[in-house]
Amino acid sequence: MQPEPFRIKMVEEIHLSTKSDRIKLIKEAGYNVFQLKIDDIYIDLLTDSGTSAMSDKQWAAMLTTKQAYAGSNSYYQLEKVVHDIFGFKYFVPVHQGRAGEHLLFSSLVKPGQVVPNNSHFDTTQANVKFVGGIPLDFVVDDAYDPNKTVPFKGNMDLVKLEDFMAKNKSKVALIMTTITNNTVGGQAVSLDNIKKTSQIARKYKIPFFIDACRFAENAYFIKIKEKGYQNKGIREIIREIFSYADGCTFSGKKDALTNIGGLLATNNKDIFEKVRNMLVITEGYPTYGGLACRELAAMAIGLQESTTESYLAYRHEQVEYLWKKLKDAGIPTVNPVGGHAVFIDGKKFFNHLPQIQYPSQTLAVELYIEAGIRGVELGTSCFGETDQKTGKTILPKLDLLRLTIPRRVYTNNHLDYVAESIIKIYKRRKTVKGLKRIYAPPLLGHFLAKFEKVS
Ligand code: F0G
Repeated sequence: MQPEPFRIKMVEEIHLSTKSDRIKLIKEAGYNVFQLKIDDIYIDLLTDSGTSAMSDKQWAAMLTTKQAYAGSNSYYQLEKVVHDIFGFKYFVPVHQGRAGEHLLFSSLVKPGQVVPNNSHFDTTQANVKFVGGIPLDFVVDDAYDPNKTVPFKGNMDLVKLEDFMAKNKSKVALIMTTITNNTVGGQAVSLDNIKKTSQIARKYKIPFFIDACRFAENAYFIKIKEKGYQNKGIREIIREIFSYADGCTFSGKKDALTNIGGLLATNNKDIFEKVRNMLVITEGYPTYGGLACRELAAMAIGLQESTTESYLAYRHEQVEYLWKKLKDAGIPTVNPVGGHAVFIDGKKFFNHLPQIQYPSQTLAVELYIEAGIRGVELGTSCFGETDQKTGKTILPKLDLLRLTIPRRVYTNNHLDYVAESIIKIYKRRKTVKGLKRIYAPPLLGHFLAKFEKVS
C-alpha cells in the first residue's frame, strides 16, 4: 500500500461524547442521524459530498481570485479545466449537483415523460419527479445481489434499455447514466457500457447525459478493471467517457474536492442556451452560477488534483482498506468495494428484523450509540415509496448502510476504529430491536423523517 500522496498541514479537533449522552441525543434526533449536530459526532461518514479536505493550492487560489459579478477570472480558469478534462464545448457553473439536475430536467423533461438511468440518486429521482417526469432504473440485475462480485455492477442493463426504447421511445426525454452508481454501492460502470448506452440513445435520437459526480473514481476503476485500459492515462479514459455523451451534470462536492459547487456541461448549443437562460433566473449570472468566485477557483484546482493517478490510487486503497477489514470479519458488505464508500447489507446484518423495521437505519442508530460514528441509510427510508392506494411502503430491493469516506480527511487509524465498532455491534446483533417510522415528508422524506424504537 502506498502512503498518502500528501502531508497534513492543518487539523481539526474531534471529541467522543459519552454513550449515555449519545443515547439521549439520537432519541432527541428522532433516530435520524441527519438531525444530529456535528459537534456531537466523532467520525462523520454521512457523506463524501462537500466534506473533502482542500489542498493548499485550492485555498491559495480562493484567496487570490478576484470577486466579480460578471467576467470573473476564476470562471475562465474553470472553463479551461472543464474543456481540458471533460471535453465539452459549453458549461455553466451551478451551486451544487442538484441545481444542474433541476436546470436540465426543467429544460428537457415534460410531464409524463420518462428518464431512464442505470440508477437515479435520490436527488436526481426527486428532480425528475418535481418536473412531472418518471425516473426509471435499468441497472443490471447483479446490482441487487449485494454479495455478488462482478467488476462493473453499476452498469446499465442494455437489453432492458433497448427493449424499453423500442417500445417507448416517444415517451423518453433523455437517457442518463450515473458514474459511479451510488445507489447500488458506489459501483463502477464500464466504458464499454457507457459507449453502448450512448449508441442506444443515438439510435433513438435521445440526448444522453452522464451524472458525473464521481467520474474520476469511475475512471480509476476502468483503468484497473477493464480490459484494454491498464496502460491508458486517467485523463485519456475520462475524455473517452465523456466523448460518448451529449453532456453531464456534476456535483463538485465530490470529485472536484470542494465544499460546494457543481456544473452542467454539454455539446448541445440549444440545451446550453435554454439552461443558461434559466440559470440567470434561478442561480445567477453564468460567470458565477450561484457561487462566490472563489468557489469556482477551488473547483478548477480540485478537478486537476482529483484526476491524477497518485491521488486516485490512494483514494481507492483507503476505501478498500475499510471494506476488507469488515469483509474479513464476516460483515455482510456489498461486494466488490465501491469507489467512495463501504456499504453494508442491513437486511443480512440484522436478519432477524423485517425490512419494514428499517434494518440499515437501525444500524446507523446503533453505530452512533456504540461509537459516535455517523453513517447513512440508503434503503427503505431513503428509497421506499408510499403506495398511493394502500398507504403502505413499497420496499426497495436494497437496504444498505453507507459508510462514506470523505476525501483526504481521515486516516486508516480512524477507519480501524470504525471497523472495530461495527464488529462489536455485529457480535450482539440479535439483541438489537428495529425502528418504526412515524413521520416523513413526501419527497426526500428521509432527511426529516422521525422514528421510534420498536418495543
Ligand atoms: N448524483 C449523485 C450520484 C449523487 O451522489 C449526488 C449527491 C447528486 C447527484 C447531487 O449532488 O448533493 O451536489 O446536489 N450525493 C450526496 C451523497 C448528497 O451523499 O451521496 P449535490
